[in-house]
Amino acid sequence: MSSFSVKNVNQIFGTGTAEVHVLHDVNFEAEPSTLSLIMGPSGSGKSTFLSIVGGLLTPTSGTVEVNGLSYNERSKKERDALRLDSIGFVLQAYHLLPYLTVADQFKLVDKIKPQGNLSREALTDVLETLGIKDLLNKYPGELSGGQQQRVAIARALYPDPAIILADEPTAALDSARVAIIVKLLKDLAVKHHKAVVVVTHDGRLVDSADRLYEMKDGYLTKSTPEVSR
Ligand SMILES: Nc1ncnc2c1ncn2[C@@H]1O[C@H](COP(=O)(O)OP(=O)(O)OP(=O)(O)O)[C@@H](O)[C@H]1O
Ligand SMILES: [Mg+2]
Repeated sequence: MSSFSVKNVNQIFGTGTAEVHVLHDVNFEAEPSTLSLIMGPSGSGKSTFLSIVGGLLTPTSGTVEVNGLSYNERSKKERDALRLDSIGFVLQAYHLLPYLTVADQFKLVDKIKPQGNLSREALTDVLETLGIKDLLNKYPGELSGGQQQRVAIARALYPDPAIILADEPTAALDSARVAIIVKLLKDLAVKHHKAVVVVTHDGRLVDSADRLYEMKDGYLTKSTPEVSR
């Protein structure tokens, strides 16, 4: 089972007078079977942090280790393989391919990664849980924002990744749907031993967290439920 650690990560965008220091000496660890929640307001650096954790962005300084090996100790090919096999992204922009039906979004995953994906039954369970089973023949453009968000969640889970990184997974959803997503993420941690990391400003997720953190102006600190509510 995969775990990862972030050590002294700084992220600076731009140079000279346009320089913005977005992450300050961020340290963080996530283990299997835990749901870690990072709460923070808009612009505090949450998406930047998640991009760095997932190896999509190389930080200005500091390291991210996945299973004991940092991204810069791996070749590009190894990094790509790690992302494909072990990391599920639920991104803020849903990144569904507009010219593929919902069913074909999953078939595309099969093409890129032919093995180790959820069984047909397990995928059907996920689709049922998320309430999107009847949308398989629709194109993303025919779906509401909340439906697209749930399809994106299902697609991220389909490769059965050991690490799940979710950026505002409930932004477009009403409270009833939020409860369903929260339970799903919690089950993935507890029953399926995934390391789940969610960044959000949605206070409705606080109760589900095993570990709670706060991101403020690029500083990450441990938090307690009372503070974040
Ligand atoms: N590629 C970039 N170049 C320059 N600045 C950037 C870049 N990406 C992010 N930033 C800046 O970094 C800061 C943090 O952005 P980030 O997207 O990580 O925040 P966030 O906490 O995810 O916000 P939100 O809740 O609105 O999604 C912002 O001030 C943003 O303008
Ligand atoms: Mg963001």
